[in-house]
Amino acid sequence: MEQRIVILVVLLIVAFLVCSEAPFVKMTNAVCKSYNQSWVVVHYCRLKAYSRTKTSLNINATFIEPAKEISVHFKMMKKANGYKPFLYDYTFDACEFMRRRHHPVAKIVWNFIRNVSTVNHTCPYVGLQAVSDFHRIEVPVPLPSGEYVIFLDWLFDLRPQFATNVYFTFVEEH
Ligand SMILES: *[C@@H]1O[C@H](CO)[C@@H](O)[C@H](O)[C@H]1NC(C)=O
Ligand SMILES: *[C@@H]1O[C@H](CO)[C@@H](O)[C@H](O)[C@H]1NC(C)=O
Ligand SMILES: *[C@@H]1O[C@H](CO)[C@@H](O)[C@H](O)[C@H]1NC(C)=O
Ligand SMILES: *[C@@H]1O[C@H](CO)[C@@H](O)[C@H](O)[C@H]1NC(C)=O
Repeated sequence: MEQRIVILVVLLIVAFLVCSEAPFVKMTNAVCKSYNQSWVVVHYCRLKAYSRTKTSLNINATFIEPAKEISVHFKMMKKANGYKPFLYDYTFDACEFMRRRHHPVAKIVWNFIRNVSTVNHTCPYVGLQAVSDFHRIEVPVPLPSGEYVIFLDWLFDLRPQFATNVYFTFVEEH
């Protein structure tokens, strides 16, 4: 009898822990591609698993020629019968941002990677560029739970040169 009660209590605790899971953001896939191998070579673009709810992102690429005019096309979508509805779609001038730090969407991207990347300077960018062990993610806008993707297309001289796309799962507080 007593044993049954203990088992019941344990089950209740487990059920409670499972149902009242803390909110989390977990990157589930990272896809990088170069559109122009004579300007950008991607060596490495992978997630590393930390735990069931945490992964870290590592990207390593070389800009063969100096990139002096860089813009970023930021697109975020939520999965719903494929990744269709565009939640956010912005293009910003990355060189301008690194000079003045004004653009609000660029600021979000910047705050994410500034401590874990080689990006901390103004244009031009040349040689090895890296994002190492990026895992501290705080979602700056309210989001419903779901599967998302952020497409970042990087344009040099107004032409797409490479893409870094990150898929993630967001679980909000229950
Ligand atoms: C590809 O990169 C080369 C080397 O920097 C550059 O000269 C060329 O304009 C680029 N092509 C496109 C389509 O951007
Ligand atoms: C980037 O990748 C290249 C090729 O795999 C490797 O030689 C280099 O050590 C890496 N650098 C960093 C900073 O991760
Ligand atoms: C980056 O580092 C600065 C200064 O050390 C710190 O204030 C900031 O919170 C860090 N940001 C992230 C996203 O880790
Ligand atoms: C980036 O560069 C600025 C200016 O040189 C410096 O103050 C800052 O500590 C650097 N680091 C980060 C993470 O922004």
